Amino acid sequence: MGAGKSTVAERLARLLGRTFVDLDSEIEAAFAMPVPAIFAGPGESQFRATEALLLRQAVCRPDRVVALGGGSLIDPASRALLSSTALWIQLDVPLPELQRRIGERGAGRPLWGHPDALQTLFEERESFYCGADFRIDADAPPGDVAAEILELLEGDDREGPGLDSTMEPGHIATIRVDLPEGGYDIVIGSGLGASLAERVTAIGQGPIAMLTDWNVGPLHGEQFASVLEGTGRRLEREVLPAGEEKKGIAPVVDAVDRLLDGGWQRTAPVVALGGGVLGDMAGLVASLLLRGVPFVQVPTTLLAMVDSSVGGKVGVNHRSGKNLLGAFHHPDLVWIDLAYLDTLPDRELRAGLGEVVKSALLGDPTLLEMLEDAPHRVLERDPQFVAEVVRRCCVFKAGVVEADRHEAGWRKVLNLGHSLGHSVEAAAGYGTLLHGEAVAIGTIAALELGVAEGVTNPRLPNRIRTLLRALGLPTSVSGISAESLATAFAGDKKILGSDLSWVFVEEVGRPTLVEIPLARLGSWLELFQKCGILRP
Ligand SMILES: NC(=O)c1ccc[n+]([C@@H]2O[C@H](COP(=O)([O-])OP(=O)(O)OC[C@H]3O[C@@H](n4cnc5c(N)ncnc54)[C@H](O)[C@@H]3O)[C@@H](O)[C@H]2O)c1
Repeated sequence: MGAGKSTVAERLARLLGRTFVDLDSEIEAAFAMPVPAIFAGPGESQFRATEALLLRQAVCRPDRVVALGGGSLIDPASRALLSSTALWIQLDVPLPELQRRIGERGAGRPLWGHPDALQTLFEERESFYCGADFRIDADAPPGDVAAEILELLEGDDREGPGLDSTMEPGHIATIRVDLPEGGYDIVIGSGLGASLAERVTAIGQGPIAMLTDWNVGPLHGEQFASVLEGTGRRLEREVLPAGEEKKGIAPVVDAVDRLLDGGWQRTAPVVALGGGVLGDMAGLVASLLLRGVPFVQVPTTLLAMVDSSVGGKVGVNHRSGKNLLGAFHHPDLVWIDLAYLDTLPDRELRAGLGEVVKSALLGDPTLLEMLEDAPHRVLERDPQFVAEVVRRCCVFKAGVVEADRHEAGWRKVLNLGHSLGHSVEAAAGYGTLLHGEAVAIGTIAALELGVAEGVTNPRLPNRIRTLLRALGLPTSVSGISAESLATAFAGDKKILGSDLSWVFVEEVGRPTLVEIPLARLGSWLELFQKCGILRP
């Protein structure tokens, strides 16, 4: 507070020709109120949660200078994120000078209650700043401080996210998912090409298993195999069946059998090239082989890019229900090359948007507005727009996964739209409705039920209906009997005792988990019929 972060960062951004981002202003815009009002109203914990999310979004772009709020580095995950993705510059100003600068202005700032408050904060926060790449004596005019930083950056020849960043051509963003067991990068780009070989070379040892499906293999398999051959390691190629109706344990066991019979080693990675079905199956193969081998996700559908490739949930369907056999097996790398979308059929692209709207509704109001303002840009595959959509979804999902990597609590919010969604998908017969289409229908169902339960803002269902329709997604389904839905609901993983755990949304960006007795299934189905979600 008072160190001159915003002024110096703005000047530095101008000198570097980069975009300036002031984190406190972003937070104020998100809440539509000034910082003191956020502390007084929604409270400090809401402020910090939004700050962490916006910080993540801000620093994952290579072309920015970001001024952080003084308390943003209290959060260890934010400090780890800065260390891994950004050049972190600390402005040092002696305490008496800070006290002089703030003077009367301090009275309006949160956490500034009495004359000693600044000294207490100064001492408390000192230890959080020790991870900075550079510390600058900032007891000088802002223009001089910015010029000094520029000089320092020009002389900095370290590899990484600084000025001399040697990113692969086509690179758009790298998002780090930090986990206690190590974490991984999500690399996003377009036409990334051969640089994948370098990254895979660093993952494990020995042969590489490349798993793809019978649609993606003929389109991209050869070119992808030649990239992997660039590692100089032996390549085993496995082609699995494509489609939700084939997502069972049998192809997984076949692949595991062949790899083990060939003497698979514990350090030898499995690389998945395909959509969510293939990624989930290949991940299960990787988790089963020798109790877990390294794993790389190379998603080729929009759905897999924005959702399924991140987070380590892998598995297959069982006759009793969807995704009932599985494991948590986090990837070592997620490599998103948007060029794969060029061959993706339109219907599959739209299905991916079902999960995009879900993510936006859960945690990214700006993304929701972007889609509402220009749905045609994503349908027409505007490259910049699609890249931003994918980046924002990955940032959101990475944050949720970091907070709860094994879905013990908060991560369950990602199941928004999956209660009725999974049930209509199974009841219609796998492959009839695409997964993302079923999620779109299920999202409307969760919103309508949320309104009926007094949790959801009553304006939300129609707002999201309008958006989903503009994106070419279904918001209702016909010809599914109540009996088949009841059977499908009974096989839902989200049943806890006699309750089903629903994800509701109070407002955009405010999800909540609510358990409702499964005995009320009949009344839910009635409501869904009344709202036109289930049609005869
Ligand atoms: N693990 C998770 O966290 C998670 C999250 C969300 C969804 N999922 C799962 O993801 C699955 C849905 O994934 P999906 O929508 O990617 O479906 P999908 O994997 O079935 O892919 C859709 C179709 O497109 C084909 N395809 C893939 N990439 C292509 C390309 N670039 N060009 C042309 N054709 C291509 C596939 O062969 C398939 O026929 C569901 O089974 C769902 O349960 C998992």
